[in-house]
Amino acid sequence: MKLMSVKSIYYAIGIFWIFTPAAADSKIVVEDCSTCHRTITREWRSSLHAQAYISPVFLKRKEELSDSGQSSCACHAPDNIAPEFLGAVPEEREDSLHLGVDCLACHMDKDMVAWSSGQQRYAPHFTRMDTMYSQGRFCTGCHGWGKESGFDCQECHMPELRGANSDGPHIEKVTGATHRSHSWPGSRKPEMLSQGVVLTAIRNGRELSLSVTNVVEAHTFPVIDRHQAEIVVLPESSLNPFWRQSVKLVRDSTAEYSVELRDANAHALVELRFYPVPAIWPDSFYVLHKEMID
Ligand code: HEC
Ligand code: HEC
Ligand code: HEC
Ligand code: HEC
Repeated sequence: MKLMSVKSIYYAIGIFWIFTPAAADSKIVVEDCSTCHRTITREWRSSLHAQAYISPVFLKRKEELSDSGQSSCACHAPDNIAPEFLGAVPEEREDSLHLGVDCLACHMDKDMVAWSSGQQRYAPHFTRMDTMYSQGRFCTGCHGWGKESGFDCQECHMPELRGANSDGPHIEKVTGATHRSHSWPGSRKPEMLSQGVVLTAIRNGRELSLSVTNVVEAHTFPVIDRHQAEIVVLPESSLNPFWRQSVKLVRDSTAEYSVELRDANAHALVELRFYPVPAIWPDSFYVLHKEMID
């Protein structure tokens, strides 16, 4: 009971902070949201959205762009998207660029009203509902492709997880509460990548028949040209593939290959590799699937 009341005071301070005119002068940052949205903030921190302006991949790209006189950083450190840039390319922010795509950019408008697709029940700040937050269009403003696909990226990239979306005293009482994941698994999550593709390898004497299927209906594998995938065949006792082929599959499609083994008894290893950042670490890959050929 005692703990509860201390929390309530903390909570009231949060409300006070959001509604006082003084708050308008001092810059509100992610830390302020983390007071009450701890779980989501922790997830966000681990995401590429949080690293969008500081990751080595972005910094290299930025250098290349500025060398050629262009700049396109708006999606990496956007100003408030809501309401007029929902589903569109946003404008670049002027400060706190290092925070990348942060809570304020995606949720808050200039008047500090929090936009989302949810039915808000207990929010201590102003909220506004817009169904676009649960639609693919919300994402494709920045992720330029996939607009026409009609798929809702959130369904796979923001799965529903256990745990409430905020830590207020009322919310903690809601049992079985869930929130949408804010870690946006993608090219840095081998577990997710391996779910999207299936590898089969069938031997018939010297002949090895391979097939790779992209089982994701929503997009190509890999999604962006910057990421690469390849299928390799290695002899039993060497790290050097004797056969390799780069893989790019449109949605719901299969590629088939045929490889000659040394002889009808030769052992081999087949690997499907994914290179998340070949521009920087050309030799770093995840093995998404492997098959021993005995
Ligand atoms: C890339 C944009 C983006 C960023 C960055 C982002 N969110 Fe979200 N957030 C969303 C979307 C989209 C949804 C709605 C998902 C849905 O309803 O389908 C959402 C949902 C939520 C919800 C409701 C959660 C629920 O129960 O479903 C809360 C609360 C929230 N976000 C808080 C935050 C906080 C706090 C941060 C910063 C740590 C943050 N968000 C960063 C896009 C973002
Ligand atoms: C004082 C605590 C507190 C602070 C600080 C706070 N929030 Fe909230 N927020 C809540 C609560 C409680 C809810 C309601 C959750 C519910 O009803 O499911 C909420 C709801 C939301 C929602 C809508 C979730 C839904 O139900 O769809 C979003 C988006 C959101 N907050 C974003 C933010 C952002 C961004 C910040 C930082 C600028 C922030 N909040 C700061 C407590 C807080
Ligand atoms: C304001 C622009 C913006 C919005 C809106 C946005 N993103 Fe992103 N997203 C980015 C940037 C910038 C990166 C950094 C990755 C990079 O540099 O390639 C990123 C990274 C990602 C990644 C990781 C990519 C990887 O290579 O692993 C995923 C997954 C992702 N976003 C999904 C989503 C989804 C789903 C939504 C909609 C809910 C969304 N994004 C909305 C800008 C945005
Ligand atoms: C049906 C589920 C599903 C939907 C819907 C979906 N994705 Fe994915 N996405 C995946 C899976 C599985 C992977 C990992 C395998 C892969 O790369 O195909 C992935 C990978 C990614 C990657 C990182 C890997 C790479 O190859 O670059 C990005 C970025 C991405 N998705 C963005 C999006 C965006 C943006 C949308 C909405 C237009 C979207 N996805 C819709 C399932 C989905």
